[in-house]
Amino acid sequence: MFDLKSYLKDVRAPVDQMLQQYLRAQSPATRVSRAMTYSVMAGGKRLRPVLCIAAAETVGGSREAVLPLACALEFIHTYSLIHDDLPAMDNDDKRRGKPTCHVQFDEATAILAGDALLTLAFEILAAAGTRCASDDQSCWLLAIAQIASAAGFKGMIEGQMRDMAFEGTVISEGELESLHRLKTGKMIEISVGAGALVSGASTCQQQLLQTYAQNIGLAFQVADDILNVKGDPERLGKATGTDQIRGKNTYPSLLGLSAAETLANQLVNNALMVLDAFDNGADSLRAIANYVIERKR
Ligand code: IPE
Ligand code: IPE
Ligand code: MG
Ligand code: MG
Repeated sequence: MFDLKSYLKDVRAPVDQMLQQYLRAQSPATRVSRAMTYSVMAGGKRLRPVLCIAAAETVGGSREAVLPLACALEFIHTYSLIHDDLPAMDNDDKRRGKPTCHVQFDEATAILAGDALLTLAFEILAAAGTRCASDDQSCWLLAIAQIASAAGFKGMIEGQMRDMAFEGTVISEGELESLHRLKTGKMIEISVGAGALVSGASTCQQQLLQTYAQNIGLAFQVADDILNVKGDPERLGKATGTDQIRGKNTYPSLLGLSAAETLANQLVNNALMVLDAFDNGADSLRAIANYVIERKR
């Protein structure tokens, strides 16, 4: 039986160590590097690095080789959270169980810490691509381009724009689905995709894993919406009930809680079905798919 708890512990440890290492490279610490470290090391679930590593290992790649990629994804994700919490966006004061970056430091520092994490990610990616064997370099370059695109104005940024633009108006289920796929799905999709790509996945494996990731990416945001309604703020490390207060479009607000839960389950089942093409080397990805909707934080 695959033990997700010990797998997560096993994968998070080297990720956290390497994240620290990248952040410590800025020494002595400056105000902006302290803000970066504060938010990154506040203790997220590290889902994107875990997915990247699990996808890499599923297609026969090595954990060590994708660690820089896994860390870069977490830096981009943490930047997006710092900016998401700013007063001009969701105006949240708690994240990862602590005061948000702009509350702990100040708004200008939080904006710059986010910017610095985003640029640091691409510095790490380019350096890792340069170091790898010349045969693998084209895959790294392609992965870097795909990550930029997933995080950028055709991906996460557009999702964030729509999330705010539609506040207070009711949109259709189709519009909500594309919003969620952009806002959250794209970065989850690329975490799996880039991990597999730089680890030598075949075209067929890449396609299957993309379908897996698209399903769990949407399921993840549906679960985030559900947790905002019925989660425990202590456990989540962030406030609940805020989506309704801000008039956000969410699956529970559009479909009701129970239909949102059914949809999340269906999406995870779709993801699991795709993995039937893989042997037990994909057990980590199977367990993560269930975790995405069963999680309490
Ligand atoms: C929260 O992401 C924001 C969304 C994209 C829904 P996570 O739930 O992965 O946050 P951390 O990294 O564990 O703090
Ligand atoms: C955050 O989405 C998405 C990104 C940071 C790109 P939400 O605003 O729904 O997530 P939480 O609930 O604040 O974590
Ligand atoms: Mg938001
Ligand atoms: Mg938010």
